[in-house]
Amino acid sequence: MTRLKIKDILKEGKAGSEVVAKGWVRTKRGSKNVNFIALNDGSTINNLQVVVDVESFEETLRDINTGAAISVKGELVESAGAGQNIELNAKELVLLGGADPDKYPIQPKKHSLEFLRENAHLRFRTSTFSAVFRIRHAMAFAIHKYFNEKGFNYLHTPIVTASDAEGAGQMFRVSTLDPKNPPLTEEGKVDFSQDFFGKATNLTVSGQLEGELGALALGEIYTFGPTFRAENSNTTRHLAEFWMIEPEMAFYDLKDNMDLAEDFLKSCIKYALDNCMDDLKFLAERLKQEEKGKPEADRSMDLIEKLEFVLNNDFIRITYTEAIDILRNSKPFKKKKFQFPVDWGTDLQSEHERYLVEKHFKCPVILTNYPKDIKAFYMKQNDDGKTVGAMDVLFPGIGEIIGGSQREENLEKLQTRMKEMDIPAEEMDWYLDTRRFGSVEHSGFGLGFERFILFVTGMGNIRDVIAFPRTPKNAEF
Ligand code: 4AD
Ligand code: MG
Repeated sequence: MTRLKIKDILKEGKAGSEVVAKGWVRTKRGSKNVNFIALNDGSTINNLQVVVDVESFEETLRDINTGAAISVKGELVESAGAGQNIELNAKELVLLGGADPDKYPIQPKKHSLEFLRENAHLRFRTSTFSAVFRIRHAMAFAIHKYFNEKGFNYLHTPIVTASDAEGAGQMFRVSTLDPKNPPLTEEGKVDFSQDFFGKATNLTVSGQLEGELGALALGEIYTFGPTFRAENSNTTRHLAEFWMIEPEMAFYDLKDNMDLAEDFLKSCIKYALDNCMDDLKFLAERLKQEEKGKPEADRSMDLIEKLEFVLNNDFIRITYTEAIDILRNSKPFKKKKFQFPVDWGTDLQSEHERYLVEKHFKCPVILTNYPKDIKAFYMKQNDDGKTVGAMDVLFPGIGEIIGGSQREENLEKLQTRMKEMDIPAEEMDWYLDTRRFGSVEHSGFGLGFERFILFVTGMGNIRDVIAFPRTPKNAEF
């Protein structure tokens, strides 16, 4: 008899039919005569209740504890218990893999997220993390589906690169040289010409530059891959290794870029609401429990309401300059509550972004036309000589979720800007060729996948939405 997944048993199982279910024991409880096992196989947040006659299976039951893997063959019967329609009456019960209750860390009680982070290799076994990772999968699928239906080509840009796309210099070196005794040049510097690639290479901070090459031939491309940043930011929103989705489109200006970003985010949120409701309901309830102790005003909106709200409302679109005005006229600014300064020309900090989104507009916001000096070299230079055609999408609870821009397509302007910013043009000749041959208006953006998953799941720490987080001083598992 083939095994059925618990999701399908709960959805379609008919009373009276025989099935085989396999999974891991969440809890076992019961009396002298009958035991109830909550069985989960990862296919759904919901457990299958297995009813076991103690007398028939006494010996096997002794080793069936939380975390053990079992196989059950039996008959489905209508359930009298609340919260389920159907349960499984065990006729055959096999222990596949035991879990010593004195050693298994994931016990049926509330564990802190910190504790589970230290046991990240086992945390998939909890309801919270199985829900998060099913949603993460669904969102990855929704992203590919969205771009595929729009005719974008998925481009695999390199992970090892010799260029610093964001010009921020926060890169991880990739080298096979002996760190204790590297070859040196005459000036006493490490001689990377003798390294594996014949030059200094790093892990990529963005696939955009290569993405632009693809877009200026294929029309519309997107990347979806791992991205690495050696920034020492130990925050709830930064990872050293994260996943980014970077669409890049020929013949798109900044407005087209914003329209795409908004439609794309909404489409993925709609996919979650249409396909992940069981997991979302569980996470919504989890969030409510988590925030019980907080004063009313500090509690988040219900997770599902929040997703519906974002889906059904237009994002606010304002310029950086307008945002600075709003911030300088705000209560927290006047009462000196912001930690960081608000002056035209300085970058907005998360506290400012969140004020705009959560307090002022109470809605996702797209900020455009930032000062050129706080943005990357490739952004389209505006006629005012001061700003560039950048766009950041800010989300409630998160701050910046997307960063993007129209790109400077004029060769001379781009070269001048690169010189001003000390970007070595000779190493980027391949990039500049796009501006030499058939250059056109084009735009793109990058969505931080984990920040988006934070938003959809209502989780509070980015380390809890990626399977094995990489952060400063942490590369366990
Ligand atoms: O704003 P960023 O740096 O933009 C770029 O890299 C552009 N090349 C994108 C493009 O136009 N194609 O990063 C884009 C997004 C951010 O908005 C944020 O969501 C996420 O990537 N991000 C991070 N996520 C987690 N941990 C980090 N350290 C992140 N740094 C950026
Ligand atoms: Mg950014």
